[in-house]
Amino acid sequence: MGKRVNPFSPGAGLAPPHLAGREAEREKFLAMLCDIRDGNVKNMVVHGLRGMGKTALMDEFKQMCDDQNILPVTEPQYSKQHCKPSKFVGLLKYNMRAAIETFSKLEKTKSKIQSAVRYIKPTSVGIPGMVYYEPSYEMEADMPLRNYMTDYLIKNWKVVEKGGYDGVVFLFDEFHTVCNSERRDWFVLSDFMGALDEVQKRGYRYAAVLCGLPILQNNLKAARSYSERMFQSLWISVLDDADARTAITKPLGGIGRSFSRGVLDSIVKETGGYPYFIQFYAKEILDRVDNNNVKIKDYERIRGKITALLDRDFFDLRMAQITDSQKTTLYAMSNVKGLDITFSAVKKYASTNNGTFAKNLTRLEEKGLIYKAKHGVYRFTLPLFREYLLRQQESTKGSDLNG
Ligand SMILES: Nc1ncnc2c1ncn2[C@@H]1O[C@H](COP(=O)(O)OP(=O)(O)O)[C@@H](O)[C@H]1O
Ligand SMILES: [Mg+2]
Repeated sequence: MGKRVNPFSPGAGLAPPHLAGREAEREKFLAMLCDIRDGNVKNMVVHGLRGMGKTALMDEFKQMCDDQNILPVTEPQYSKQHCKPSKFVGLLKYNMRAAIETFSKLEKTKSKIQSAVRYIKPTSVGIPGMVYYEPSYEMEADMPLRNYMTDYLIKNWKVVEKGGYDGVVFLFDEFHTVCNSERRDWFVLSDFMGALDEVQKRGYRYAAVLCGLPILQNNLKAARSYSERMFQSLWISVLDDADARTAITKPLGGIGRSFSRGVLDSIVKETGGYPYFIQFYAKEILDRVDNNNVKIKDYERIRGKITALLDRDFFDLRMAQITDSQKTTLYAMSNVKGLDITFSAVKKYASTNNGTFAKNLTRLEEKGLIYKAKHGVYRFTLPLFREYLLRQQESTKGSDLNG
């Protein structure tokens, strides 16, 4: 039998065949866009664990900007290198330029753009007919980065406005990787937030949606004490039951296949509504079952294989990056019931001394396996990770007995 169509797409940043749920999130963002148009500019921080669907939602936000006549300036891949001021500014300018270039090519804005030439003296004109402001001075060593960015944004506002847009929204993903480095005297995060605050206070309609892992919120707070006033927070979590079902049934409908109610119930329960796992399960089931209508007995036949594959492709890979000592700390943590793992609760299960234990926690946090929810309280960053760790311990126990 030839390979059949499979619409499901497990993977980082892969657009889902159907973006399920997220109505509340879309509504919040739409309200933000309307506020920008009214001159009431606000920013948003989109945060959540890996695989929750933040990037998929950011793609949706971009579309909404287009529909609402707001210019989206996007960057999907911030990384550590952008903590360096020259890299940060370079990327910001590149993306601004790219966004302006895109709209310069649109028929409807072409003539408007031409009239902008009269207002600013562009020192850099790329494609024919394109207008873009590039500061004529290089960033001087003693010029504060914040002032440079403020000036840059203000000058380019004229271009945006003449292009007929009501505002600009920065859609920056993986932004948790950007932070200040006191040791190197780099303060890009503080400077960017400062510049944004400054242009907004002066009435320019630039807004930011910063997206990343939970640590992002802490970075922003550390960089600017007033971050809570600047950013409304949007926490992206698992899909509820009904939305998890639609995430599966909609794409299935498109290819004339279906899962029985029992199968749907099982997937929703086993994935906990975690978008990445939903895509993963649905894809595997479709690939492994020939019947158009998948029944619970078909699913039960392959369930073990899917869990094993998920362990191998998803969890084992992550476990391969840590030391045995860190592993024992994770196992200890998995013995604590519930979402919040307090230092004192997990200490009961840990065999290592306090110093090693604390160091392990720090390393595990750096590797993105756990995060600090509040002072002295840790959580796993990956859904179903606790269950996986318990399974691992069971199987080692089993092999110890046999061995
Ligand atoms: N609302 C959704 N409905 C269905 N699938 C989704 C949804 N959001 C994300 N996904 C799927 O989940 C996986 C992870 O999404 P992604 O946006 O990369 O997560 P994150 O950026 O939070 O790590 C992808 O395979 C994506 O297709
Ligand atoms: Mg992402």
